[in-house]
Amino acid sequence: MNPFTGLDLLASAVIILDPEGRISYVNPAAENMLDGSAKAMLQQRLGRFFVNGDTIDELFHQALRHQFDDKRLDLILERHGRDALHVHAIVTVLDTPATPVLIELRENVQQLKLDREERILDQSQANKELIRNLAHEIKNPLGGIRGAAQLLELELPERQLKELREYTQVIIKEADRLQTLVDRLLAPHRRPHIVGDVNIHEVCERVRSLIVAEFPNGLMIKRDYDLSLPEFRGDQEQLIQAVLNIAHNAAQALSERIEKGDAELVLQTRVARQITLAKVRYRLALDLHIIDNGPGIPTDIQNRIFYPLVSGRNGGSGLGLTLAQTFVQQHMGFISCESRPGLTDFRILIPLP
Ligand SMILES: Nc1ncnc2c1ncn2[C@@H]1O[C@H](COP(=O)(O)OP(=O)(O)OP(=O)(O)O)[C@@H](O)[C@H]1O
Ligand SMILES: [Mg+2]
Repeated sequence: MNPFTGLDLLASAVIILDPEGRISYVNPAAENMLDGSAKAMLQQRLGRFFVNGDTIDELFHQALRHQFDDKRLDLILERHGRDALHVHAIVTVLDTPATPVLIELRENVQQLKLDREERILDQSQANKELIRNLAHEIKNPLGGIRGAAQLLELELPERQLKELREYTQVIIKEADRLQTLVDRLLAPHRRPHIVGDVNIHEVCERVRSLIVAEFPNGLMIKRDYDLSLPEFRGDQEQLIQAVLNIAHNAAQALSERIEKGDAELVLQTRVARQITLAKVRYRLALDLHIIDNGPGIPTDIQNRIFYPLVSGRNGGSGLGLTLAQTFVQQHMGFISCESRPGLTDFRILIPLP
């Protein structure tokens, strides 16, 4: 009987090594983390599962030489052909000679989140440049195309006017549609920041009334406000736009439930403490959640919804969330999102004074 079965149920990964540094036990959580079966891993050196395995071999040797009784540290373990693993490791020296070292690994979720947010920030900076340039490139000839189609229409011979006008109208309508798209792409960069005192509950209430007006039946909007939240300096109109885009997506995603009559949208405000945004630490932040009980974000676009032109909706232009993110970032804040069927939660964090 395996003396370590008690460890099988633990959520953190546990690996026990023999005096040669070979694996003599792994629990199921460790099998999961290392992506292998216990059978295949036994008797292997732990280090070989990672590109930078020497780090962990070195720790093992230090433990064996009793340089510490237990040691805690954050490690980045690079796996072959997969994402690196950010873990909090605890290395413990045991007093059983046949199995002298126990290593416990817990995924460092905080670090993962920071990495992901940093990546989104970098990406969105690059995106913004690209979009701005591209939009200008499209905008310039567009006026010419539309104007030329109008002139052409004037020149059409009377007897063919009826049938040919259909074509010039297609050009004009499509040019107008592109113009609107391009204007939306350029909007966040052009519009000046109107700075004043922002009351976040006024923002929520405005959004609520707009959504109620558009979806009067079958959608219940719950308000869960922390009224002690202070006002902060910012652009109220921009924030209304940001929250409205998110709430509007939610309402659209809820269409089936709206028909059934059990669609639910929650606007929740809270104070968050000790928050890190774009590597800067803030003591206080506004923590606004927009939660719906719809089907969730389609998994194939879940990692990309904040990128421009990514849409899971027929007829969607995929700009709503890009704009929302830009507006919130202009307030030094950040929007993140968690979604599964039945629960989608968009979270807006904005530093408070
Ligand atoms: N609450 C939500 N539930 C389910 N899917 C969502 C939700 N919010 C966003 N999405 C998905 O994310 C996509 C991107 O949203 P975004 O607002 O950026 O673009 P859009 O709604 O498609 O177009 P636009 O807002 O520009 O008209 C949506 O098309 C939708 O598939
Ligand atoms: Mg949208």
